[in-house]
Amino acid sequence: MKKIAVFASGNGSNFQVIAEEFPVEFVFSDHRDAYVLERADKLDVLSYAFELKEFESKEDYEAALVELLEEHQIDLVCLAGYMKIVGPTLLAAYEGRIINIHPAYLPEFPGAHGIEDAWEAGVEQSGVTIHWVDSGVDTGKIIQQVRVTRLADDTIDSFEARIHEAEYKLYPEVLDSLGVERR
Ligand code: GRF
Repeated sequence: MKKIAVFASGNGSNFQVIAEEFPVEFVFSDHRDAYVLERADKLDVLSYAFELKEFESKEDYEAALVELLEEHQIDLVCLAGYMKIVGPTLLAAYEGRIINIHPAYLPEFPGAHGIEDAWEAGVEQSGVTIHWVDSGVDTGKIIQQVRVTRLADDTIDSFEARIHEAEYKLYPEVLDSLGVERR
């Protein structure tokens, strides 16, 4: 059985959807006060949190992450709102075993503001992408993506809400396709 860990920096709604449908070995947050940690408690999922600033370097920080992943024999790391670039230490240990969800139709609108950037560009459609993580920002090989249309009466909030709904469908589908067993 493939063991998964989820990395999330803040809210954790994607983590919640994943954890409700799949056994999650642990969730990691790089912010000790992130709301995702409360979600984990409520769902009885093991959680860890530590911050980059608590380490001498990003290398040391990522070495601590690799140690956690190895200790739990994690097969697949699912980034879901993890707001750091994955660095060489984590990549060296886990490349090919890390996936990320991005709230736009890559390669359109990479970066930290995929939803706002698409909205401001006035596109007729954007989307959601899940891809393998490499050393670039949202550049890895695409696993699956789905289009989300911008409706005539959309506000940025309603558009964003539909993007998130699409995320909540896509992540479980991709985990199924990668052979992760459901609860
Ligand atoms: C999602 O839109 C995800 O695509 C992006 O960050 C957001 C995280 O939301 N990378 P949440 O923390 O899962 O609620």
